[in-house]
Amino acid sequence: MDPGLSPFRPGVPVPIESFVGRQHEIEYLHRMAMASTHGRLKVGFVAGEPGIGKSSLVQFVRSRCEQEDDMTGCHVFLGGARDLNGMMRKICNQLLKESINQPWHEKVREFFGNHIRKVGAFGVILELNLEDQDFSTMVNNFGLYIQDFIKKTDKQGLLLILDDVNGLANLEEVAHWFKSTVDELSISYSGICLCILVVGLEERRKALIQNQQSLARVFDLLDINPWTEEETREFYESTFTSAGARISSEGLESLVQYAGGLPVFAHQLGESVWHVAQECMVQELEIDKHTVLRGIVNGTEIIGRRFLDRQVFDTIRSEKYRSILKKMMSDKPIFHFRRSEIIKNLTSGEIRVFDNFLQRMKNLGVLTQDPSVRGGYRFLNLLYSLYCFSYASRI
Ligand SMILES: Nc1ncnc2c1ncn2[C@@H]1O[C@H](COP(=O)(O)OP(=O)(O)OP(=O)(O)O)[C@@H](O)[C@H]1O
Ligand SMILES: [Mg+2]
Repeated sequence: MDPGLSPFRPGVPVPIESFVGRQHEIEYLHRMAMASTHGRLKVGFVAGEPGIGKSSLVQFVRSRCEQEDDMTGCHVFLGGARDLNGMMRKICNQLLKESINQPWHEKVREFFGNHIRKVGAFGVILELNLEDQDFSTMVNNFGLYIQDFIKKTDKQGLLLILDDVNGLANLEEVAHWFKSTVDELSISYSGICLCILVVGLEERRKALIQNQQSLARVFDLLDINPWTEEETREFYESTFTSAGARISSEGLESLVQYAGGLPVFAHQLGESVWHVAQECMVQELEIDKHTVLRGIVNGTEIIGRRFLDRQVFDTIRSEKYRSILKKMMSDKPIFHFRRSEIIKNLTSGEIRVFDNFLQRMKNLGVLTQDPSVRGGYRFLNLLYSLYCFSYASRI
């Protein structure tokens, strides 16, 4: 095995050929895109917690729409955009960039006229040289511009993916823009072959709706859940097999348990197991449970350092919370709990420390109180819970 050839991809959207599961979600989004090719405007919100596989899913659907349905897609990452003009700048630049190898590239160049400049060491990257005022005009006339763009492509429709909308979602102007743009597209541009997929955390969808209540009706919502155990198993089996390795069934079950259905976690654990197996020069690429457990320990360490905020990382690993964490969840991960259930197993000294732990975790945004359950708490995302479990089970 070559460590440089790890088949896992922690932290980056998965390539189409390594995509696993999500059959129902693929069908749902594909149906929306198909409807848009018949002139029915579709606007969806793909919600889910960090690392659950939102970007990978929409990328997969895009590829299917392009291959099977003669659509064109554009995947815009909006992270870093601070306002509507910044958002439009990213959308236009991406439309231009993704047109480069397409037959309609020349038409797109004409569309932007002499506002295109070449950037990068070899001048191979194209970027728009437009003023804020120009983007503002596009923001206000989005329907006109996007309809014109779709016509230029000569395709059945456009799948426009607005990913990482998180930073923008709290802005009132963005919520109002979505609402008025969707209204305008449906009324003045009825028959437009456009499917817009907005991608972000569920709390951001709620933030958008809070700023513009009617948006709740505008978005078709797709909430991405953790992989089922079956999907996680399939992921590990197919990924190890694709690299010529085999994993023992005991090892596989451990990985499935620790990954907890969170793809980003699954990839990192898989990669660490891969490296341990490589170091041990595992014979005939058979990975046993012992190798898997060592990989899980290493993977947990990497996940903590890579994906957790420093303060969260230090707090979870603080010496004073050790015994509590161990009692709380060394057998299985828990996502929500009641205080009363936990303190049953704690000493009176530990109970005081536990209350301090709860407060600190709340302040850091790791835990939140569950208003529907007396003394109920839940982890804000799966990554926190899985990390605590994985860490607790080895201390
Ligand atoms: N269906 C899948 N099959 C295989 N790997 C996947 C799948 N979905 C996601 N992954 C992997 O999981 C990790 C997280 O995926 P992705 O970046 O798509 O998640 P995300 O929800 O967009 O995350 P973020 O909230 O950080 O943007 C990546 O390493 C990706 O390769
Ligand atoms: Mg993403």
